[in-house]
Amino acid sequence: MKKLSSPEFSRLREKTRLVLAGRDPADSYGFVNPPIVRGSTVVYPNMEDFMVRKARYTYGTQGNPTIDALLAALNTMEGGAGTVVCPSGLLACTLPMLAVLSSGDHLLVTDSVYRPTRIFCDKMLKRMGVEVTYYDPAIGAGIAGLFKPNTKAVWTEAPGSQTFEMQDIPAIVEAAHARDVLVLMDNTWATPLFFDSHKFGVDLSVQAGTKYYAGHSDVLIGTVSARTPELYKRLREAWETLGVIIAPEDAFLTLRGIRTMHIRLKEQMPAGIEMANWLAARPEVARVLHPALPSDPGHAIWKRDFTGASSLFAIELKPVPTKAVGAMLDGLSLFGMGASWGGYESLVLPFDCTAYRTATKPGFAGPTIRLHIGLEDLEDLKEDLDAGFARLRAAA
Ligand SMILES: Cc1ncc(COP(=O)(O)O)c(C=O)c1O
Repeated sequence: MKKLSSPEFSRLREKTRLVLAGRDPADSYGFVNPPIVRGSTVVYPNMEDFMVRKARYTYGTQGNPTIDALLAALNTMEGGAGTVVCPSGLLACTLPMLAVLSSGDHLLVTDSVYRPTRIFCDKMLKRMGVEVTYYDPAIGAGIAGLFKPNTKAVWTEAPGSQTFEMQDIPAIVEAAHARDVLVLMDNTWATPLFFDSHKFGVDLSVQAGTKYYAGHSDVLIGTVSARTPELYKRLREAWETLGVIIAPEDAFLTLRGIRTMHIRLKEQMPAGIEMANWLAARPEVARVLHPALPSDPGHAIWKRDFTGASSLFAIELKPVPTKAVGAMLDGLSLFGMGASWGGYESLVLPFDCTAYRTATKPGFAGPTIRLHIGLEDLEDLKEDLDAGFARLRAAA
């Protein structure tokens, strides 16, 4: 196999790059995949080299060949200046904030933010002297009205991982960059395959790689990609200073997941949309929250900026007692009840975001349920839910 030069590689289309990135059989004893390299200590041939740390890898916390293989694939997808990897998606949310914020700074955060990110803002950032203001996810260009002289960054998440409001990222980027304010985004729902966040000006883009990247519910991992070399330098410095490192097995498994991610999403996107439409037609359902549905308030933005949808969405039921929801969900045999998503299996969970939102009050009259559609046959999933709705009606 002829080795491609870097410009030759960059000219390839995304699917091909995802197959090739981060591996060179010549470095792997001829095997297709890179080996898992475990290690803390790196030994040097002599004192002179040790004193100046003259080595490709200097110490386990600074990276290793397995992690570099993953980074090569991530960079190829994210299209930024550089990426760092973290041992959870949550750390991938908090690390970029630590990288760019200092005491006395002001941060704007979407009210639809993933709740543990919100808890980090409310507890740690505030304790460290960072002022945090939550804003309506639908604010768009109106974000300019919330800027203060000390505003450093805007945190976005589109769509919100429970309530699925879309955000006008180009409008927020334009307003923020006009004031030298950075835009950070949790892009886990769309992945870079469906939303090219750096192309839209997002400065630091986060993935909970635990979801679609790893894709098999067996790894916790997060990634942060920086748009410019200067931002990458700041991000990498925070990563090194804090000693954030991942296990090489997790790097290997995530890389394995990324190779087939577009195939999984190609199945899961239409399955999610079909299921959302099926649910929208059910008499027990008041509303479906899925930006790919034309009836969704965020649909126009989704259509304009995104090239696809993942398979996570929510429904609002018509008002029923909690025990009826329990009867429906507890009897499901194909949907596990669990908090993550992005794997090959379907999941369901009840949620209530009304208690902790502060800038907006999503008006749900009935119970809300989040669904993740996996790779099962859709007809089996519908039959499982159909039986669930029968239990719901009987218990209502
Ligand atoms: C939108 C979003 N961001 C970040 C995370 C955190 O990922 P992890 O579970 O790997 O910490 C999650 C997890 O559910 C999520 O839904």
